[in-house]
Amino acid sequence: MKRSGSMSCSSSDDNDDEEPPPMEFKKLVKGRQSVSAEAFGEWNRKKAFTPPKVAKTEAQKMRLKVCLMKSFLFSNLDDSDLSIVIGAMKEVPAEKGTTVITQGEDGDCLFVIESGKFDCTVKSGGQEKLVKSCEVGDVFGELALLYNCPRAASVTSTKRGVLWQLDRETFNHIVKEAAHKKRVRYDAFLAKVSILESMDAYERSQLADALKAETFTDGQCIVTAGDAGDKFYIVEEGKAEAVKSGQVAMQFGVGDYFGELALIRDQPRAATVTAKGYVRVLSVDRRSFKRLLNVEDLINRSVKYM
Ligand code: CMP
Repeated sequence: MKRSGSMSCSSSDDNDDEEPPPMEFKKLVKGRQSVSAEAFGEWNRKKAFTPPKVAKTEAQKMRLKVCLMKSFLFSNLDDSDLSIVIGAMKEVPAEKGTTVITQGEDGDCLFVIESGKFDCTVKSGGQEKLVKSCEVGDVFGELALLYNCPRAASVTSTKRGVLWQLDRETFNHIVKEAAHKKRVRYDAFLAKVSILESMDAYERSQLADALKAETFTDGQCIVTAGDAGDKFYIVEEGKAEAVKSGQVAMQFGVGDYFGELALIRDQPRAATVTAKGYVRVLSVDRRSFKRLLNVEDLINRSVKYM
């Protein structure tokens, strides 16, 4: 595959057993191998992988670690995988106005933002549309690596910043599987949640990265009235109930959400929410809640509580 790009890095073509993308991104239909062939193929690939090593000072390593901890794709890696990724990443300064990624080109790396701001734009029918503004801790350029498709958007710095670049091979060996599984696992569920219906597939995939699953047994408190709120919840499985001044105020089933009021109003929790039987919720922290969800829509819908 020819690789070109505004900021290209070394590449390898080892995407013969990709799963198809879950959303409307370009599909790659591949023949299915037998289970044992797949398992051995994977094992051989892992064994053969020698991660690149880009020399860094201790100060750079520390900055990079802090940066990766802000990113959902990287923050859950175990220590050994994290040190491989830190070793492989390359610091890339970007002046204001630099086009880091060009829509339609082949992509062989992704970027994590340490500082600066980067706009993602999509050209279609002669018009250019801003689809996302990325900030510190955000990742961009992952789609081409996850789905082996051309760059879906152009990405340009709107102010001077610092990026960390990760090559396709290290991403594929260390990060891709978990990231891909999480997006596939939650995309279908999130697409059915009514509060999220205005989201497009890309926004849903970003939310999927940010979700944390938590389970509760019958009677356990998920949210306690009076506590400071730091998370928003969507019920993935089971039922929960909100109690306010001793009265049941709301009941929540699969696809319902709660915990938004304290985050929107910056006030303590207005009710206690308890599990009714076994419950699995997907939580989103305060920062992601404000960045990824349509808070206006939630404010309008939250009239029902008042
Ligand atoms: P990739 O396609 O590899 O390169 C362009 C990047 O822009 C893409 O990965 C995403 O990281 C990012 N991007 C942000 N918003 C969107 C969007 N709505 N559609 C596609 N790509 C987006």
